[in-house]
Amino acid sequence: MDRIVIRGGKPLQGTIHIRGAKNSALPLMAACLLAEEPCTLHNIPCLHDVFTMDKLLSAMGMNIEFTGRYLTLDTSSLGEPVAPYELVRKMRASFFVLGPLLARHGKAKVSLPGGCAIGTRPVDIHLKGLEALGAEISIEDGYVYAKGTLHGADLTLDFPSVGATENLLMAASRAKGVTRLANVAREPEIADLARFLNRLGAQISGAGSDLITVVGVDSLGGAEHTVIPDRVEAGTFLLAGAATGGDVTVQNSDPDHLSSFLNKLRQAGAEVEAHNSRIRVTVPNGLKALDVTTQPYPGFPTDLQAQMMAMLCVAEGASVIKETVFENRFMQVGELLRMGADIEVDGNAAVVRGVKALQGAPVMASDLRASAALVVAGLIAKRGETSVNRVYHIDRGYERIEERFMALGADMERIRD
Ligand code: UD1
Repeated sequence: MDRIVIRGGKPLQGTIHIRGAKNSALPLMAACLLAEEPCTLHNIPCLHDVFTMDKLLSAMGMNIEFTGRYLTLDTSSLGEPVAPYELVRKMRASFFVLGPLLARHGKAKVSLPGGCAIGTRPVDIHLKGLEALGAEISIEDGYVYAKGTLHGADLTLDFPSVGATENLLMAASRAKGVTRLANVAREPEIADLARFLNRLGAQISGAGSDLITVVGVDSLGGAEHTVIPDRVEAGTFLLAGAATGGDVTVQNSDPDHLSSFLNKLRQAGAEVEAHNSRIRVTVPNGLKALDVTTQPYPGFPTDLQAQMMAMLCVAEGASVIKETVFENRFMQVGELLRMGADIEVDGNAAVVRGVKALQGAPVMASDLRASAALVVAGLIAKRGETSVNRVYHIDRGYERIEERFMALGADMERIRD
C-alpha cells in the first residue's frame, strides 16, 4: 500500500485546476444504463471510484472507452442486470445502478452495499421510494431483488438523501406517468444528473430545489455532457492554502456551489475572492475559531468537515464542529491528536482548541475525507515528517493529490509499496 510523506510548514502558493466532480461522474455513468444510444461524458476525473464504476458497468455488458478526460458509454450489448457483491462492496455508489436497471429491464439484482467507516449507511430510503414507484422488492442473501413495471407516484423522502434522490430520479425518468419527489436532496450533483437525463430525453423539472417533478418517457436516447467541477476537491485545496497561511487559487470551480463553505472560511479570517470560476484564498491576519454544523446542501458539506477540522486545529480559540449528516464521521480525530491537536469529541460534536503548531507523525487514513484531512494536517505541521498510510482511500476521490500539492510548493512525496 502506498503512503504519502509530507514535510509541512510551508505556505502553499499558486493556482490549481479543479477536476470534474466524483459525485457527479458516478451517478452520470450509472444513468447511461438508461440510454439506448451511446453517450459521452467529458471532464471525468481519473479516480479509483470511477474505475470501479467502469468495472461494474463493463461487467454488465456496457461498452466503455476511457480516453483522456472523457468516457464513451454504449449499452447496445447489455447483459443480465446484476451488480455483484465483489464490486458493490468496494464502493457504495455502485448502488446507483439499481434505479436505472430496474427502469430499463423491469428487474435487477444488486448487492446491498453494507456499512462503511463513517456509519451504517442504510438504503431504506432508496428502497421505499422504488416501492412507491411500483417495484416489488425482496432482500435475500445480501442482495436486493427488485422487479416490476414502474409508474409515477407522489412521495416524500424521510431525509434528503443524495443517493436515494439520484436513484429515484433515474427510475422515475422511465416510469409511466408523473412522479413528484418531495424533500429531495438539492446538491449541485442532483441538478447535474437531471440536466444529463433531460439531454437523454427525460422530462425533469425542479432539480436543485426540494421538489422535483418527473414526467416519465418510454425511452431515452444518447447525449454528450460535461461533468461539473468537484466542489469538495476545490474546498480541500482552499483549506490547505488557508491552513498553511498561503495564497491559493482554484480555477475551473464554481463558487456558487461553495457558498456556505466560503462564508465559513471568511468568518475564520480568510480573505476570499471569487470571480467566475476562480476562487483565491489568503489569510492576512491569522485564523480564528469557528462554529461549523454540517447539513445537506446548501448547508456546510459533510465532505469538507474533516479538512475544516484540520485547519481549525491551528486557529486561535475554541471551535465547535457538529456533524449531523453521518453518525460516525470523526475518524480523523484520533490521528490529529497524535499530531498534537487538542480535540474533544462528545457524540456528534467536537470541540477543537487551537494550538500553536501541529507536529508530523505517522498516521493512518481511514476513509476518503478523513485521509484528506490528514494530508492538510501534514502540510500544516511545522516540525517532523507526516507519513499518511493507506493512501488508497485518498486515491478514490483525489487525482494524484501529491503531485498537485507539490505544484503549490508542498514538500511531499508518494512512497510506492
Ligand atoms: C453522497 C455522497 C457523499 C456525501 C453524502 C452526503 C456520492 C457518491 N456520495 O453519499 O460523498 O458525503 O452524499 O452529502 O454522491 N441514509 C439513510 N437511508 C438511506 C439513505 C441515506 O438513513 O436510504 C442516511 C445515511 O446513512 C446518512 C445520510 O442519510 O446518514 C446521508 O446519506 P446520503 O445523502 O444518502 O449520502 P450518499 O448518497 O450515500
